[in-house]
Amino acid sequence: MSVWLGDSRVACGHWPQPTVIVSDGGYGVLGFDGDTSDHLGLPDWYEPHIAAWSRAATPQTTLWFWNSEIGWAAVHPVLERHGWRYVNANLWNKGKGHIAGNVNTASIRRFPVVSEVCVQYVLAAHMDGMELRDWLYHEWTRSGLPLKRANEACGVRDAASRKYLDRGHLWYFPPPPMFERLQAYANRKGDPIGRPYFSLDGRSPGTAEQWARLRAKFRCPHGFTNVWDRPALRGAERFRVHGGSARALHLNQKPLNLMSLIIEASSDPGDVVWEPFGGLFSASIAARRLGRHAFGAEIDPTYFHYGVQRLKAEAQRS
Ligand SMILES: C[S@@+](CC[C@H](N)C(=O)[O-])C[C@H]1O[C@@H](n2cnc3c(N)ncnc32)[C@H](O)[C@@H]1O
Repeated sequence: MSVWLGDSRVACGHWPQPTVIVSDGGYGVLGFDGDTSDHLGLPDWYEPHIAAWSRAATPQTTLWFWNSEIGWAAVHPVLERHGWRYVNANLWNKGKGHIAGNVNTASIRRFPVVSEVCVQYVLAAHMDGMELRDWLYHEWTRSGLPLKRANEACGVRDAASRKYLDRGHLWYFPPPPMFERLQAYANRKGDPIGRPYFSLDGRSPGTAEQWARLRAKFRCPHGFTNVWDRPALRGAERFRVHGGSARALHLNQKPLNLMSLIIEASSDPGDVVWEPFGGLFSASIAARRLGRHAFGAEIDPTYFHYGVQRLKAEAQRS
């Protein structure tokens, strides 16, 4: 594990390529020194960070973007502009216990908020300047074969050309063995002039392993949905200045089990996890417990100090 005191835009230039980036930065609520006062300032606040992440990430990288609903909505266009593709919005439901006392809904004039979002993004892979969906279709048509022969290539009766070679919302990423079947068939039966088809290195037909590297990792633990019911942090896990009932140190310390959930779902042991807005380094701790290599930064010396204390306590625990 490696943690830096300073701006993560600088620090991340020294980190190895990430498999996972856990972003839990500005919320537009003046939550820490430098946070903006509302969501309107968030796109500019995040843009240089997002640009740095895009430069370092690969198609195997998953970005988990924590925020309020409106904060995420404001930043989403910036993420898209820098190549990140929306996968799923996950809702952390803190439950009614999160509302302190009675909320006067007549004066706030809305339903009480007990949620945050954690939005999953991946970096779109490109081949020959095209997103993979368009490239697969392009390569197949370039081979001169009619679309319906893709079914024969994949050994299925009628679904393959519609899904793998679909150009609309029905498309999905062919599993690596299916990619290899499409490739082998096109190279065997397609127009000899244009070979190789489906080449990922410009020289030879692409393999299942090469194809697998063009997609981010993901596995869903049994029984999970995109709504995560979990009370806000209280009790022993909440880091406090003098322990016991003293003041919570960080407004936005995240639960370790939610950090573990997203890291485990999108990486393997030995992979690199970035936490550019460390706070008390919750993602780094979760990553370490899962056998991943964590790299974190925190710009505020006080938070950094306590974050390091927490990491030291963690190291003694194991
Ligand atoms: C929402 S908090 C993160 C809380 C963290 N997830 C946890 O569980 O403790 C955001 C943190 O990012 C830090 N921060 C803001 N800008 C930063 C930057 N450019 N580089 C590094 N840290 C930054 C803030 O000081 C703040 O502590």
